[in-house]
Amino acid sequence: MKKLFFSLIVTSIIFTSCSKDDSNGVSVGGPSGGSDDVVNPGDPLLYTPSDNLKDIANYPIGNIVSASRLTSSSEGEFRVVLNNDFNSITAENDMKMANMFVGPNSFDFSDGDAIVAYAKANGMRVHGHALIWHPNYAIPDWLENFSGTDAEFEAHIENYVKTTVEHFALEVDANGNSIVAAWDVVNEYFDDNGDVRSTLFTQRMGSDYIERIFQWAREADPNVKLFYNDYNIAGQTNKRSSILSMANTFQNSGIPIDGIGMQMHLSSAWPSQQEVTQAITDVAGSNLLVHISELDIGINPNDDINSLTVERAQEQEALYNHVSSEYSSIVPSSQQYGITVWGVRDQDSWRYDGGTEWPLLYNENFEFKIAHRGFADGL
Ligand code: XIL
Repeated sequence: MKKLFFSLIVTSIIFTSCSKDDSNGVSVGGPSGGSDDVVNPGDPLLYTPSDNLKDIANYPIGNIVSASRLTSSSEGEFRVVLNNDFNSITAENDMKMANMFVGPNSFDFSDGDAIVAYAKANGMRVHGHALIWHPNYAIPDWLENFSGTDAEFEAHIENYVKTTVEHFALEVDANGNSIVAAWDVVNEYFDDNGDVRSTLFTQRMGSDYIERIFQWAREADPNVKLFYNDYNIAGQTNKRSSILSMANTFQNSGIPIDGIGMQMHLSSAWPSQQEVTQAITDVAGSNLLVHISELDIGINPNDDINSLTVERAQEQEALYNHVSSEYSSIVPSSQQYGITVWGVRDQDSWRYDGGTEWPLLYNENFEFKIAHRGFADGL
């Protein structure tokens, strides 16, 4: 009860006032000194921000959504946080192939359409995620088990890519730009060694299939930004080299590509801050758009704590700060597509792991963890 009461007070402070009021707590600076921020009295794990993330940054700040969370009457608090702090949304799962390509030449775009409608109504951008991704659960069963020829399989994929990209080009904002500004066209083509991963798509279409996917996406929409997206781009240097060399080949041979998405599922143990800096530098060197596309930072990689400690929370604050500040300072503004965080509350995270990783920016009551301060101060 006491906790609930405290959280109601904090929530009302957060949502009814954006002005600085140091009587709420001691004025502190984050890693790079956000002097307007105040700590919440009595809880060193939390703070009260003075500005919304999207208003601080010079580039879009995103988070993930589902159609059901955007429409459910019980998710009002989630939407308040989403609308305050973020101006770009990515479907966590709803715009993956398994959810849209329901049968041969049969599509269900209803969840994606609901997400686009929400973005349009709230002045947000949608980042399309992800046209081609290899895990079984991302591929519809009928296609996974498809018994036709390879040529027939490929024709279905071409139809899917073109139909989907064309469909999501249709909804536009007041300036005539599509709400879906970009697609992760192919996700995780390389393995951690930098070799092409063997998947249903390479087996059916050959390892050069990726070129045709990007070309079909471009044919379907001449304006949408086309991204290659992958994880461990910071951390696995061979993988990073393969990705950058592929992007370079694409640019030199006229295969369309506009950007690289660095997922950035990090942990406090790995990769090092220096490696994160190097990866951002290298990817920016491609001259393509750079998206930090799925940011989260686990802080209990060795399972050695069972409740969030101040020390670990501060470590997380510093790591979030490192990512946002390096992105802001290294990536030229013309290449800053934005940073997307992969979830709102810790318990919403795909890395929740029974509550032992605390990878995100908000706690169970949508209160602001000091990780949020670190991230905000680096923007
Ligand atoms: C994850 C979602 O967060 C989970 O809900 C789902 O069960 C599996 O996929 N890389 C990606 C994302 O590109 O699509 C993944 O999202 C996380 C890893």
